Amino acid sequence: MSDDDVELEARLEEQEVFEPSEEFVSQANVSDAGIYEEFDENWPECWEQAAALLDWEEEYDRVLDDSNPPFYEWFTDGTINASTNCLDRHLDERGDEAAIEWVGEPVDEDNVTLTYSQLHEKVNEAAAALRDLGVGEDDVVTMYMPMIPELPVAMLACARIGAPHSVVFAGFSADALATRMNAADSEYLVTCDGYYRRGDPLDHLDKANEGLAGVDHDTETVVVDRLGPNGDDFGHDLAADQHDWGELMAANEGATVEPVDRDAEDMLFLMYTSGTTGQPKGVKHTTGGYLSWVTWTSQAVLDIKPEDTYFCSADIGWITGHSYIVYGPLALGTTTMMYEGTPDHPDRDRLWEIVEEYGATQLYTAPTAIRAFMKWGKQYPERHDLSSLRLLGTVGEPINPRAWKWYYSNIGDEECPVVDTWWQTETGGMMVTTLPGVKDMKPGSAGPPLPGMDIRIVDTNGDEVEPGRAGYLTVNKPWPGMLRTLYKNDERFIEEYWREYSDVDSDDPDDWVYFPEDGAKIDEDGYITVLGRVDDVINVSGHRLGTMEIESAIVGVEGVAEAAVVGGDHEVKGEAVYAYVIVEEGQEESEAFRQEIVKGVEDAIGPIARPEQVIFTPALPKTRSGKIMRRLLEDIANDEELGDTSTLRNPEVVEDIRRVVQGD
Ligand code: WT7
Repeated sequence: MSDDDVELEARLEEQEVFEPSEEFVSQANVSDAGIYEEFDENWPECWEQAAALLDWEEEYDRVLDDSNPPFYEWFTDGTINASTNCLDRHLDERGDEAAIEWVGEPVDEDNVTLTYSQLHEKVNEAAAALRDLGVGEDDVVTMYMPMIPELPVAMLACARIGAPHSVVFAGFSADALATRMNAADSEYLVTCDGYYRRGDPLDHLDKANEGLAGVDHDTETVVVDRLGPNGDDFGHDLAADQHDWGELMAANEGATVEPVDRDAEDMLFLMYTSGTTGQPKGVKHTTGGYLSWVTWTSQAVLDIKPEDTYFCSADIGWITGHSYIVYGPLALGTTTMMYEGTPDHPDRDRLWEIVEEYGATQLYTAPTAIRAFMKWGKQYPERHDLSSLRLLGTVGEPINPRAWKWYYSNIGDEECPVVDTWWQTETGGMMVTTLPGVKDMKPGSAGPPLPGMDIRIVDTNGDEVEPGRAGYLTVNKPWPGMLRTLYKNDERFIEEYWREYSDVDSDDPDDWVYFPEDGAKIDEDGYITVLGRVDDVINVSGHRLGTMEIESAIVGVEGVAEAAVVGGDHEVKGEAVYAYVIVEEGQEESEAFRQEIVKGVEDAIGPIARPEQVIFTPALPKTRSGKIMRRLLEDIANDEELGDTSTLRNPEVVEDIRRVVQGD
């Protein structure tokens, strides 16, 4: 490092509060600090400001109906269509402007620009094609697709005809696809032949077909040809209930489909996410509230303007991509980018090359990516002119101040505010973060709750804890983007999110408190530092994984007697999967068996859940009531001082396991 660098690092290291630049503030969508007070005084009517960003078919009667908590309804009796809001209403003024800029992984392949007119056309054709197949209003259409333009086209086509989509991340396994299609009774699947990963074509249809074999009802599948001749080697043949996307689109060329009027509370989509138990949760989001929420936060937090070229590097298969690649940005009529590949292919400057080439104005990414960039070194961003960037964002897990500062200075050149946004699949959109044109930033702390949010940090009794002390994050007032329930499972919805801190027999909304299962602390200024999950969910590279799901995959491997999975600290991924495994009598604790276990997890969930370490152990630490003490296993994984072992039935195993891990 040069002397200048050392000096810069030293200065940044000490600085704890960062002000947004005057240049940023002067052009920000929101720059009046009075918004916090205004929203508090005018709650819930303040959320009309969010609804007003959209075009409604039928005006709503009430902003909030809270007569039956926790089943809140927003913008009741209003009707609206999400695809109209993301497309039709922009055609007059922005028809020829880019809606989507798509960058494929192969560098020598032509990128795709879809203007608003072109996207509108494709969405109409796809909507007509889906209808031809028999898709009706409220039929759930599953999408098992990577980052290709047909994914948002299919999503918006569903929105147009009132068919909720359920997107399954392409990296998930065949089993995961089948589980989700069965849980949602989904009879339709849109998928593709394959896609590119690190330069090679990857077979995807094979995995989709394997998943379909596990679906317990009849299905119709649409297959996008992503690879062209490069996919010939896979030798795919479409079955009788499988249709070629291109042919369906051609058959519907020039078709127009009248958007269906959806009730504000009608389901826009389902998204499955991991929880404490083995079964993924089908989070239900609605049309009016969700769309208002993501549009408002896109404007207020990401500072999106129609003339921007906004780049979020997430995958649309996760909620970040739904809210902040597709729905929020398109509702605002901006240009949203999509990148198919990984940030290090063909080289570690790929993202910066894209930012420079397209003149991206915002970049929204995850701490795990930032830590990888930091590790690779600043010579990669330095090869490119990143001066088009105006704002940076992060999401998915806590960001350590060092990574925050690296991002701020090396990517944002100390000019761009960084928004550290805390939220979840269930919240639909951002909840805690600084409004970049209003608030100072404190690296490591996400910031204050957004205006109109009532967020408190409490102890196990629900009493607020003092500033600086760790507690549990709770949300004490409903918000438009909130999940409405878990698909076909109101009971579990209450159990998972409300019971902990609510009086579940009460009809008074003040007695209902939403619990996102995160630990946090708050400082004197009301800035919240999120500490991480407090349930059995771990966060690997910003991906949420249930330890029980992984355990049941491991126990499914022949020869395994018992397993416990915890998150161990990891420099880049944040957390990594550590699997403690007891083998059955006669099963060898070999390297080959370790590989079998890893494969078992990949097959059941996907490579993202692959254990970093498989540790064979003779026993697991258990309480007298037989509960596995995961905390202790975490301490061992992280080589930390062991927590209290006095409640263990078998305290001696802890030292045994530690010896195994340390290889003594
Ligand atoms: C969990 C939600 C939000 C979209 C991507 C993940 C953690 C998320 C932050 C942040 C600290 C964060 C929480 C949360 N998380 N953002 N800025 N700081 N932690 O969505 O898969 O539903 O996961 O991610 O633990 O509960 P998700």
